[in-house]
Amino acid sequence: MQVIKEVQALRELRRCWQMEAKTIAFVPTMGNLHEGHIQLAKEAKKVADIVVVSIFVNPLQFGPDEDLDSYPKTLQQDQEALEAVGVDLIFTPSAKAIYSRGLENQTFVEVPGISYMICGASRPGHFRGVATIVCKLFNMVQPNHAFFGEKDFQQLQVIRAMVTDLSMNLQIHGVPTVRESDGLAMSSRNNYLTTDQRAIAPQLYENMMQIVDKVELGRRDFSIIIKEHKQRLNDAGFKVDYIEIRSADNLLQPGHEDEELVVLMAAFLGKTRLIDNCCIRLNS
Ligand code: PAF
Repeated sequence: MQVIKEVQALRELRRCWQMEAKTIAFVPTMGNLHEGHIQLAKEAKKVADIVVVSIFVNPLQFGPDEDLDSYPKTLQQDQEALEAVGVDLIFTPSAKAIYSRGLENQTFVEVPGISYMICGASRPGHFRGVATIVCKLFNMVQPNHAFFGEKDFQQLQVIRAMVTDLSMNLQIHGVPTVRESDGLAMSSRNNYLTTDQRAIAPQLYENMMQIVDKVELGRRDFSIIIKEHKQRLNDAGFKVDYIEIRSADNLLQPGHEDEELVVLMAAFLGKTRLIDNCCIRLNS
């Protein structure tokens, strides 16, 4: 397994792979890898000759009061975990290499509509930062396939829309959320939780599954369901940012024609923001 920092070195390797007619699967990450990321790399290995993983904590997708400076960096452990699953190349560029003209001069990629709702409303500019870095990394790696976790459901939708809108020539794969044994979705930010917060955290998943059950049993009074579960979570010690039941297709408010819905949730435990989601296929 190779580890490189320079964009030029990546481009040269890319040229060699091209000459050998090798296909490339790409997993973009911000490091501090957990089993969810490893699952992405394993899925990537199934579809291509070469697997590239990037580790880059992208300043453009963090708000001014968010955890950019404290985001955990565990490069040595990450390398060992990726080597163990047979990843071919880790790309760890510096912020200078990625944003060479400075963040304030950077050209953006902005996916309208879907970027502004739900998580995008709570984190203005976040999805613009994600779309911009993912587009830049796609231009550098030029993969045939790219893999993203379904835990970041809205991010996956934003990236799919960007790929369609900009006619990018690659296939996007969503990989199911990997969970701890108590249901908590794996996330690098789980490391921020205190022991007490970690004990409460699975209630986010439990409440989500209770909402799913209610909808599957035929309830359509979504605003009442949402209000009840917001209250339950706030009483348990969370500060709920949102609970939404949307069309899984476009994340708009659900209509009668929708065949699949998605429950999306975000809530703070102390300063740590946890998100989760679950799709519900309706029996029409
Ligand atoms: O999901 C993430 O870890 C990040 O948003 C991504 C896709 C690596 C872009 O920085």
